Amino acid sequence: MEAKNLRVSRQRLKFSLERMAKIGATDGGGVHRLALSDEDKQARDLFLKWLKELDLTVRVDEMGNIFGKRKGRSPRLPIVLTGSHIDSQPQGGRFDGILGVMGALEVLRTIQENHIETERPVMIVNWTNEEGTRFPPAMAGSGVWTGTLNRDWVYRQADIQGKKLGGELARIGYKGRQPARKWPVHAYYELHIEQGPILEKEGKRIGVPRGILGLNWYDVDIEGKANQVGPTPMEGRNDALCAAAEMILKVNELPGRMGENLVATVGEIHNSPNSRNIIPGRVHFTVDIRSWDDDLSLRAWEELKRDFGRISKKRGCPTILAETWQVEHASFDESLVKRVGETAQRLGFSTHFMVSGAGHDASYVNQVAPAAMIFVPSIGGRSHVEVENTKWEDCEAGANVLLHCVLQSALEK
Ligand code: GLV
Ligand code: MN
Ligand code: MN
Repeated sequence: MEAKNLRVSRQRLKFSLERMAKIGATDGGGVHRLALSDEDKQARDLFLKWLKELDLTVRVDEMGNIFGKRKGRSPRLPIVLTGSHIDSQPQGGRFDGILGVMGALEVLRTIQENHIETERPVMIVNWTNEEGTRFPPAMAGSGVWTGTLNRDWVYRQADIQGKKLGGELARIGYKGRQPARKWPVHAYYELHIEQGPILEKEGKRIGVPRGILGLNWYDVDIEGKANQVGPTPMEGRNDALCAAAEMILKVNELPGRMGENLVATVGEIHNSPNSRNIIPGRVHFTVDIRSWDDDLSLRAWEELKRDFGRISKKRGCPTILAETWQVEHASFDESLVKRVGETAQRLGFSTHFMVSGAGHDASYVNQVAPAAMIFVPSIGGRSHVEVENTKWEDCEAGANVLLHCVLQSALEK
């Protein structure tokens, strides 16, 4: 068959996604497949089995990133890379990340069964720990691979139980030998669900992101004075949770104060000792600030630091702030963005140009190679939750756009 007439198989893509969704399936219809957990290992094992059935050259690097390469006529030319991530949020959805990995697999299966020869090698990737929910930071596998994050620093990152990322990588058998180091990439494409409401609202099939917002993560630790709640008068208390409550509202109000061109969220909090009859003695919470305007994000944090300082003093609760992770906004390669839009239109799909509020490995890859993404609608704009959903026909449409973008880049000399 002529390459331009190729189409992926919706049934096979659906089967792969449904099979993966069984690993870490939750009662509420989502998945719980945290990075480097037993569920992540099971999904990786299945992914590897499927890669080997396709006769790809498979390698696992020291960050646990999994690559599968299909030969091209010119093995020395920079490759075309496509993929996403297998890990999920806690009680997360069945499409975030895995659609980009199964979509890429479907593309390779389609190219392979039709005996299409490409000029350049085509490679599929599963990046380790994209979510960053168990081990901050997010996008850790791609961040080390591109040379932006330090491998040993990432290995030392610990989860809430104190388990280190490096140790967990070895425990599940995915601490590979290959150095996690970038090599020349001609084009990187990542298929993903939108994770927001815009495509549905606009009634459009394919989202064409021009780039990704900058992400800024912070950690806040508040020290109060724990005590018995009954006998301790209200006056003179050092209640760490009350200090946190005031600070969290400051975070929520910040975008309104600064002109709305950013979003700011506290998503994780740990209160200690977390007993109904003890005044909270210690609180840890996280802050996530995102904007296309990197300076605005930094100014927002400066503003918060001042607010937090005032609250900490007023409540007599010393507070430690840590700047955990920062990624500047990513502006994708214009010619690849154009290609995604034109390819979608040629295939008969309506398109909408936008920016991504969610972080993706494409953000790091974009720092070292031309990158672009393909979005498909999220039903009800819901993501990172069990009800996350996307129509199968939209998954198929996105995979077909991916197929033809990959083919165009891989046929280039
Ligand atoms: C990753 O999913 C993020 O946007 O935080
Ligand atoms: Mn994702
Ligand atoms: Mn996610």
